[in-house]
Amino acid sequence: MSNNLAEELGLLGPIDEMMHPYREQYPATRQLPATGVPRDKVLAQMEEMRAKEAARWRDGYASGSVYHGDESHIDFVNKIYALHSQTNQLHSDLWPSAAKFEAEIVAMTAHMLSAEACGEPFDSEKGVCGSVSSGGSESILLAMKAYRDYARAERGITEPEFVVPRSGHAAFHKAAQYFNIKLRPVPLDDQFRADVGAVAAEINENTIALVASAPNFPYGTIDPIDKISELALKHGVGCHVDACLGGYFLPWAERLGYPVPVFDFRLPGVTSMSCDTHKYGYAPKGTSVVLYRGRALRHHQFFTIADWPGGLYYSPTFSGSRPGGLSAACWAALMTMGESNYLKSAKAIMDAVAVMKQGIREIPELKLLGESLAVFAFGSDELNIYEVLDQMSARHWALTGLQHPAGIHVSTTLRQTQPGVAERFVKDLKESVEHVTANPGAEGGMAPIYGLAAAIPEKGIVHDLLRQVMDIYYKT
Ligand SMILES: Cc1ncc(COP(=O)(O)O)c(C=O)c1O
Repeated sequence: MSNNLAEELGLLGPIDEMMHPYREQYPATRQLPATGVPRDKVLAQMEEMRAKEAARWRDGYASGSVYHGDESHIDFVNKIYALHSQTNQLHSDLWPSAAKFEAEIVAMTAHMLSAEACGEPFDSEKGVCGSVSSGGSESILLAMKAYRDYARAERGITEPEFVVPRSGHAAFHKAAQYFNIKLRPVPLDDQFRADVGAVAAEINENTIALVASAPNFPYGTIDPIDKISELALKHGVGCHVDACLGGYFLPWAERLGYPVPVFDFRLPGVTSMSCDTHKYGYAPKGTSVVLYRGRALRHHQFFTIADWPGGLYYSPTFSGSRPGGLSAACWAALMTMGESNYLKSAKAIMDAVAVMKQGIREIPELKLLGESLAVFAFGSDELNIYEVLDQMSARHWALTGLQHPAGIHVSTTLRQTQPGVAERFVKDLKESVEHVTANPGAEGGMAPIYGLAAAIPEKGIVHDLLRQVMDIYYKT
């Protein structure tokens, strides 16, 4: 297909409109202004856009996206970013503060995830060590690249494979594509957790690592990581725990007494973890941490070149130059949050989650998918859940649609702990379900797109559609 089919079905027009609401108000700039636009004019336009876009996330209508969002927190991290906006980790001779911030972000994160439990000092040859990356996907890509190259060097594996539960993040599939690693997907059990028997069945002599999530993005469920860690030990392969979402949440939930299975370096088979500071760590977007058990793995992440005319060059992650201001702001967020504020935030979020989940349980047409904490999902056996999603969108909510099975995902953040927001979620959800029950099959929105994606067995067509969506993104 078929640009035409997507167009004929009228799918692209609404996406274009949604992505480009400013065309009328601010005509597109397609070449550099001949003379610089006055700063106050540029600032005014950007302030207008910010004001227009802030209301939805600020008032708690968005799943995930902005995890903290209090004005005073935002002002503080912005101030730190501004202080360090000229810094670049590539030049740690000029900005040794950047190296200090990153080393300490790694140390604080590793300590929180029980680095000491592995019996080796932090940042020793066999102890836990890590890197700061630009986000969850980069942390995952770095870890998978490190496993691939480690396995090639130490085990002679030339056709690497890794085992990923169906709920594992899309970034693992990206890693498989980018680095030519075969991804062996495994099904989930009836509680939306990795089926351990299926994981075991996929291990072979080319396996470089097993993946587990704490929790996964779609359902917020935590895989049986203790069992997967045992399998990794038994077979002498790596075990990566993707704690991008949960890394900065589960430790506090555990301390508060919520049922959190052991998911970190306390498990002897766990050899790496990804953990996002820019989600429940409450740092601004653009930082994450990848951790390894032992420097040997991390060395396979690093890039070095000894004979480049531009000098002796090294770079720990994918980017060359990096925005030091983001690591500074991340460090400052971690420092000012401290354990006490993380605990307080986790408690407030779990209180909001309790209201939202109870509301879902009281709507007979809906059902929660699996046992989870702050991140959860729900579906329906009776209604088209995407029509419910569209009705929620019409009521300003920004939630995520799931497929296989169809559902709606919510990552609860501090934004939903504001007074009345969780209750408003329940009220809007009840109204949405009532509306869909009374008017099934309504047109427009995401429902037809998900319907089409589910109905087309030839996934190439869906890939084409998604590429067209990205083309639309870059239209002026
Ligand atoms: C479990 C999990 N892993 C990885 C990622 C990827 O993170 P990012 O969007 O920061 O690249 C996400 C993002 O939501 C996630 O939920």
